[in-house]
Formats: sequence, C-alpha cells, structure tokens
Amino acid sequence: MPVITTIDDLKRLHKRRTPKMFYDYCESGSWTEQTFRDNESDFDKIRLRQRIAVDMTNRTTASKLIGQDVTMPLALAPVGLTGMQRADGEIKAARAAEKFGVPFTLSTMSICSIEDVAEHTEKPFWFQLYVMRDEEYVDNIIERAKRAGCSALVLTLDLQILGQRHKDLKNGLTAPPKMTPPVIADLATKWRWGIEMLQTKRRSFGNIVGHAKGVDNMNSLSSWTAEQFDPRLDWNTVRKLKEKWGGKLILKGILDVDDAKMAAEVGADAIIVSNHGGRQLDGALSSIRMLPSIVQAVGDKVEIHLDSGIRSGQDMLKALAMGAKGVMIGRAYIHGLGAMGEAGVTKALEVIHRELDITMALCGRRDVNTFDRDMLLVPEDFEGRWA
Ligand code: GLV
Repeated sequence: MPVITTIDDLKRLHKRRTPKMFYDYCESGSWTEQTFRDNESDFDKIRLRQRIAVDMTNRTTASKLIGQDVTMPLALAPVGLTGMQRADGEIKAARAAEKFGVPFTLSTMSICSIEDVAEHTEKPFWFQLYVMRDEEYVDNIIERAKRAGCSALVLTLDLQILGQRHKDLKNGLTAPPKMTPPVIADLATKWRWGIEMLQTKRRSFGNIVGHAKGVDNMNSLSSWTAEQFDPRLDWNTVRKLKEKWGGKLILKGILDVDDAKMAAEVGADAIIVSNHGGRQLDGALSSIRMLPSIVQAVGDKVEIHLDSGIRSGQDMLKALAMGAKGVMIGRAYIHGLGAMGEAGVTKALEVIHRELDITMALCGRRDVNTFDRDMLLVPEDFEGRWA
C-alpha cells in the first residue's frame, strides 16, 4: 500500500491505473491550457502569515454551505464521465462524500444516473444541470432530480459550447471507449480497470440514454454537446429554471463582476466563481484572481464558492481567506477515484482536510468561519491591472 500524503500522489496512481483517454480528459484544459495552468500557479503566488503563541486547541473546520452542515466548506464538483475513471465512479464518490460530510454534485454528463446515485446513498446530493435544446428533457430531468431528493440545483452557465481540448480529439474520447489497437494496448496495462468495468452495467451516459428522445446510443461527449446543448441560454432562461426547480439554486461559471451582479439579482442562493477548470475559455483569468473583485461586488448579497485550481488544503484556506464561503474540488477527487476508488476519494478529502486544519493552526486560527484576508500575504499586483 503506497503512502499517500498529497493529491499529487493520488494523481500519479490515477495516471498509472486509468485508461489514457480518461486520465487525459481529467487532466487537460482547452487550447493552450494557459488558464488551466494559471488556476493552480496563481495560488502559489499567495503566501501565509505565520502567527505564534495562539491557543490551538479545539479547532473546527465545520461550517455551512447554502445552509447545509458540512465537515469542511468544500463540495465535490460535477465532473462528466466520472464513471469511466473507475466503474460506478459517481456512486463511489458520492458515498465517500456523504461519509465525510461534504456535498457531492452529480453531473448531467455522468455515467451513473440520478436514480443510481440516489439508490446507493442516504443523504441528499446536489445535481448539476446543463440546459439542452429539448425543453421536455430539461423539465423531465429537473423532476427526476426533485424525486431523488437532490438538495440543490447547480446550473452551469459557462458551457453551452464545448471548449476544444486537443487531447480528447486525439485520443478519440468516447464512453465506453472504442476498442481500437492503441486503446487495446493501453488497456492491457490497466487490467483492474477493465475487470471492474466488465462487472458493471453502467458504461454510457446514464442521465441521457433512455431519457432523451432518439438517443439510445450516445457515446461522444463532443457530438452530444454540439447537437443538444442550448446555445440560447440567457438570464431569462435562468429565471425560468429557478421557478421550475423551486429549491436551492447555485449558479456555476461566474468569472466576471457584471455576471456576478446579474446572478445575485436573479436570486441565486450561491454562485461558483469558476472557469470550468480552464476547460472552456482559454485566456480567461484564474478563479482565485477574479475572486476578490467578485467578493467586493456581491459578497454581501450572495454566498460565493470558488472552483478551479484547488489541489490542497492550503489552496482552500487561501480561497476562504480571500472571501469565499466554500470551495469545490474536481480533479483532486477524481485523482483519488482513479487511484483507489471510493477509498481514494476519502483519502483525497482527508489529505485536504488535514492540510487545512494544520495550516489554519499555524496561521493562528481555530475556526474556519473566522478566516479573513489578514491571514494572507498577497502581492500588491496579484489581481493585476487589466484595461
Ligand atoms: C464538462 O462536462 C467538461 O468536460 O468539462
């Protein structure tokens, strides 16, 4: 059993144990991947203030996200094709999250369906929605999420057209994979993945196949998004969906102050400052850089979460200290899942929790809910002057 001390350890195992096309799907950004890289490297520019002689006993990371109790203010982000990283991946990740006490978000583009995940978990999870052209399908999936008891709808607003990720095109990404000679050669070294996959029935897009009209053999994410995602999505649609859902609404993909103001005006319960992990508009600024101005503009009106770039508890602490109420992790838990299944997701959460807890103690804080900018050393030009 390897000793896992960082998310990077899980990432190395993920790469070794998972078919290349799915590892690459996770570990890529669009075009030049500049934004993908900046999301991580911008966190490194922020340093921490070491404080001493402060009582460190009775520390707590417990908090609330959209009014729900959490062990630490972090949620698992929606990630497409999670059930291809490991058989029944969404169920495994959801179970790890509920045991740990943080929310799991199921993607529309998941392999396990809403019903599959609900059947195998006890606590409510969040459901992420992509808006499709087929209104009946959208109404239906909202009803399915309600029936499954989902406790929030996470509406993604930054992916009506799929950003181009070169690796996916070169690898011929599909779910399940097509058995071409390079795929067969790759799978020969990933036999455990293959055996587990043969033992599950869940190998295509479970929320779509059998639910969307005329779709019974859909395996390509790029062709499905091009044909089905609704490029007309606007704030009016957001308002209508809010009505239809009627529960907690989280808007994901906000990276601009004006959009954050619109999201607050629409009455979202929370917004997620995100550039989709650098997978959509390459050249956009990192989420952590955009966070301060968004907090300043709407921090008193709507709960703000940050996604994109979190790979450690220290990153998490920095985002919270900069004004986020919570964070989302995507790749960090997918590395755990690909490395070790459910136990790997738990390990990812433990690693991040431990880093958060020890770091806050060494910064002289005992309660995650008291974090502020005073804990950080931020370069004066961190946000940059952009005209
Ligand atoms: C979304 O599903 C993505 O691939 O980023």
